[in-house]
Amino acid sequence: MPIFRTNAGKEPQVDMANLPRHIAIIMDGNGRWAKKRGLPRTAGHAAGAETFRTIATYCKEIGLDYLTVYAFSTENWKRPAEEVGAIMGLLKKYLLEAIGKMERDKVKMEFFGDLSPLTPELRELCERTREISKGYDGCQVNICLNYGGRDELIRAARAFAQDCVDGKCNPQSLEPDRFGDYLFSAGIPDPDLVIRPSGELRLSNFLLWQSAYAEFYFTDVLWPDFSKQELHRAIAAYQSRSRRFGGV
Ligand code: IPE
Ligand code: IPE
Ligand code: MG
Repeated sequence: MPIFRTNAGKEPQVDMANLPRHIAIIMDGNGRWAKKRGLPRTAGHAAGAETFRTIATYCKEIGLDYLTVYAFSTENWKRPAEEVGAIMGLLKKYLLEAIGKMERDKVKMEFFGDLSPLTPELRELCERTREISKGYDGCQVNICLNYGGRDELIRAARAFAQDCVDGKCNPQSLEPDRFGDYLFSAGIPDPDLVIRPSGELRLSNFLLWQSAYAEFYFTDVLWPDFSKQELHRAIAAYQSRSRRFGGV
């Protein structure tokens, strides 16, 4: 069985044959990483974008089915325009790169969130990546962009109500699976493991519905310092847990 050690003796063992199907990550701590180095926050975001490249590539290599990352929340617009602009610029850079490598990498990309406030250029890039990769059936990376769990739930409730008004369904017919079909994550299994670096112990409006039975892994490591080894630790922690889903 492909069990391996990540580092001589001390590191936890990861069972690569039993990976979680879906890992979700709140990519937090870029600003503090930069501050510690006397750099502007934007330098932290650039470093965080590099970490995302490394981790996403690695997830694909190990055969993970779904990776969902929190890149920009509905609340992050409160930040200075310069910082928001820098994050959007990094995103554009990443998408252009991803489009260039798509034929080779075959990573399917999706976006969770309301893309309408983004610039037309960025929206078009998201649309293009989604379109090019929609037929791929390997690893799927979901980028949460202008995403908020509450916003997602409100949108779903509205869409369902509208379907009722239009006579397509009735309120009594609503079941959890059915409601899930109205979310950005429709058709995608719930995350098994939610990772939050940076030492914060909260969800910050991330995947509120989908993480109902997720396992959580929190670490003090700041996102730009997050490594494959740290990912191994999170997966090993996940594999050591007993998931009961309310049973015995
Ligand atoms: C996460 O890092 C990136 C985004 C929220 C876009 P932060 O920018 O929140 O970093 P800290 O939390 O200030 O260190
Ligand atoms: C969550 O981080 C959002 C992203 C990582 C994109 P924040 O830094 O925005 O969360 P809070 O403000 O610490 O809760
Ligand atoms: Mg933060």
